[in-house]
Amino acid sequence: MENNDVKVRVEHLTKYFGSLHVLDDVSFDIKKGEFLCVVGPTGCGKTTFLNLLTRIYMPTKGDLYIDGEPADPKKHSISVVFQEPSSMPWLTVEKNLRFGLEIKKLPKDEINRRVENIIKLLGLEEFRNNYPHQLSVSTAQRIIIGRAFAMQPDLLLMDEPYGQMDIKLRFYLEDEVVRLWKETGTTVVFITHNIEEAVYLAQRVLILTNKPAKIKEEVMIDLPRPRDVTSPEFIAIRNHITEQIKWW
Ligand SMILES: Nc1ncnc2c1ncn2[C@@H]1O[C@H](COP(=O)(O)OP(=O)(O)OP(=O)(O)O)[C@@H](O)[C@H]1O
Ligand SMILES: [Mg+2]
Repeated sequence: MENNDVKVRVEHLTKYFGSLHVLDDVSFDIKKGEFLCVVGPTGCGKTTFLNLLTRIYMPTKGDLYIDGEPADPKKHSISVVFQEPSSMPWLTVEKNLRFGLEIKKLPKDEINRRVENIIKLLGLEEFRNNYPHQLSVSTAQRIIIGRAFAMQPDLLLMDEPYGQMDIKLRFYLEDEVVRLWKETGTTVVFITHNIEEAVYLAQRVLILTNKPAKIKEEVMIDLPRPRDVTSPEFIAIRNHITEQIKWW
């Protein structure tokens, strides 16, 4: 009974590292084109979940399926944006954006088209011939995000990509990721410690428990965008999620 609307199916996912029980029989679906945020206490297994999707680790029990097939990085294109800026310092902005596409051996026309599109979307025209060290942290992170979207991945995984940034940069980049998500229709899984960020971005927020992690609750968020972080509705959802986590 394969459902065409499902991008990722997580079935009875369980992970142990030796005797350390991290994920405990977790099951949920992610819809095609969905923007899902995952929040949970430090060390509960959020990054482990992403590493299981990309097969850096294998599940102890259960499995993850993408488009109905077991997740396979050779078959499914998955882009990951980490917390640390990870552009290649010896390449210009434009070459950083081209890099993954050239590795994939896409036709030159297609590479040009995608790179120009992302440069335009992200407003990177003036930086295209600069090297990453010549850019601010936020511009460098924009390139990472742009590179991830340029791959047109089945799935975009973001692991606290804005963790180090101040609030102004975060707001700016959050709007940017929403814009790119809308523009491309990519399925996005965004992990964050920041509950306000999750409520600002997500269509749905998954709240995990302490490890061994289970899903504590899922919260649907259908507030209009751009969201007003000071509105009573926004604050009510944010407070509710905070209550569920209690990580202090
Ligand atoms: N390769 C590994 N070997 C052994 N233990 C590991 C390994 N990777 C992660 N762990 C442990 O698994 C648990 C979950 O780690 P993980 O990095 O997934 O947590 P997290 O939810 O991403 O935490 P944070 O919020 O700090 O990013 C932690 O206790 C961590 O020490
Ligand atoms: Mg983590």
